[in-house]
Amino acid sequence: MLRSVILRAAGDARVKSLVATAPVSRNVVARFVAGESVDDAVRATRGLVQDGLRVSLDHLGEDTTNPGQAEATTKAYVSLLGRLADEGLTSGAEVSVKLSAVGQALDESLATHNARSICEAAAAAGTTVTLDMEDHTTTDSTLRIHRELRADFPSTAAVIQSYLRRSEDDCRDLAACGSRVRLCKGAYKEPESVAFRSRGEVDRSYVRCVKVLMNGSGYPMVATHDPRLVAIAGALVRQVGREQGSYEYQMLYGVRPDEQRRLVGAGETVRVYVPYGDQWYGYLMRRLAERPANVTFFLRALATKS
Ligand code: FDA
Repeated sequence: MLRSVILRAAGDARVKSLVATAPVSRNVVARFVAGESVDDAVRATRGLVQDGLRVSLDHLGEDTTNPGQAEATTKAYVSLLGRLADEGLTSGAEVSVKLSAVGQALDESLATHNARSICEAAAAAGTTVTLDMEDHTTTDSTLRIHRELRADFPSTAAVIQSYLRRSEDDCRDLAACGSRVRLCKGAYKEPESVAFRSRGEVDRSYVRCVKVLMNGSGYPMVATHDPRLVAIAGALVRQVGREQGSYEYQMLYGVRPDEQRRLVGAGETVRVYVPYGDQWYGYLMRRLAERPANVTFFLRALATKS
């Protein structure tokens, strides 16, 4: 309920202006975002890699309908990848890309072209790309682009959201063709016609999907902070006899950092999703919507500081 209210409010121009300009937003944002510059991103990556974690970097920005902006975002990724290579960080760090930020809403072939440039730069730097998944109206297009890119860059990963009713079938397709797949619950406001609404249904779908992925020939990436689902994934690993390193856990920057390090200590591969850049509004609103305690934290900061 609260999640749905926040996600609806996030689209309101007045709310956006209030949140984006409130000085305190910067402090709240610092909890979930590594910083605004590439230097900030590199610094955060180095710290995490030194702690035994891996990283997927997200240059923040989404939903552009401007080809110039799509090209600028593509260039930002290409230069980030060059910088990561120069810093010797590409064995531990890859990038996550939102296709809407590289032109998907304008033209699928433009987004494919731009995403291909990023995959080429990643391959040259010795690392990989994950295509983030956005709202359900983009799922077919994103999976088409993923299929096309995998023909030349087989390690390109897709993301599946367990709240979508279609996801078990999508997992089956991706597991059969040996893809890297990040499985998450899903962060957008979706209609009941396409998405499960209750937490129990979303979690049960997650378990069905992770079973399919663990039994498949691909590389499952279990992206959740939910302790129960982390435990279930671990039990499945033992049941199907997967070796450590043939799958990984993923969590968001700033969320359950102790658990991230506990898993690394147990010999697991753990990748932290690290967003950076000044276009943090949509990302922040999705993180607030996930957890009422984050909203309380934000409102308390607003009340005391603004
Ligand atoms: P859930 O929301 O049930 O949280 C379980 C527990 O984790 C909470 O009780 C709390 O302790 C902790 N927690 C979760 N979120 C928190 C937060 N924001 N702040 C503090 N504590 C929190 N979505 C999407 O639609 N497309 C995508 O491409 C991605 N990509 C992605 C990458 C990675 C690495 C992760 C971890 C997540 C995503 N997501 C995503 C987001 C995902 O869909 C989902 O919204 C969040 O991960 C929250 O769901 P959980 O599985 O953590 O469970």
